[in-house]
Amino acid sequence: MNDDIQTVLYSEATIQAACERLGKQLTQVYRGKNPLVVCVLKGAVPFMADLIKQMDIYMDIDFIDVSSYHGGTQSTGSIELVKDVDQDVSGRELLLVDDIVDTGRTLAYLKDLFQDRGASSVRVCMLMDKPEARQMAEMQADYVGFNVPNEFLVGYGLDYQGKYRNLPYVGILKPEIYQG
Ligand code: PRP
Ligand code: MN
Ligand code: MG
Repeated sequence: MNDDIQTVLYSEATIQAACERLGKQLTQVYRGKNPLVVCVLKGAVPFMADLIKQMDIYMDIDFIDVSSYHGGTQSTGSIELVKDVDQDVSGRELLLVDDIVDTGRTLAYLKDLFQDRGASSVRVCMLMDKPEARQMAEMQADYVGFNVPNEFLVGYGLDYQGKYRNLPYVGILKPEIYQG
């Protein structure tokens, strides 16, 4: 699996440092607020796990599964709600955790969903932001680990056809892998 990677962009140590920085910041923001921290399946799983360990506060966690890429390299444009959160979000301070904001469609869909359900606040923490790919200009994350180049990235939650999520770093896939 490691042989399929052309370049490592963010090493395990670099990602860990970003989680520490973001976790400290979010600890200040949410102290005493008992946030509901929502992990966006499946890409956010590794980031969620590392980030919440750096937050020294009481919180609840939940999971939502939306999909737009259906395993490929291009966004399909339609967002599908695959699995909803279990908890009532009305009156809650919500923190959405995802691996990457690309076109911004996933984020737009989720912010609308939770605002419509009466969350008292919806903030967003992303490990990566790919500003060049944005199609919804107003969609910005509140807390970002890295601004990333407009390349197809895999690892640390990011997949190609469901694979590579378990790489401990983020890298660029060799073109021959997706060019077949
Ligand atoms: C990816 C990624 C983000 C979203 C970002 O998820 O994990 O959630 O796309 O893209 P956008 O800003 O263009 O909406 P995907 O839909 O591939 O599902 P997955 O997390 O299960 O891989
Ligand atoms: Mn995702
Ligand atoms: Mg995906």
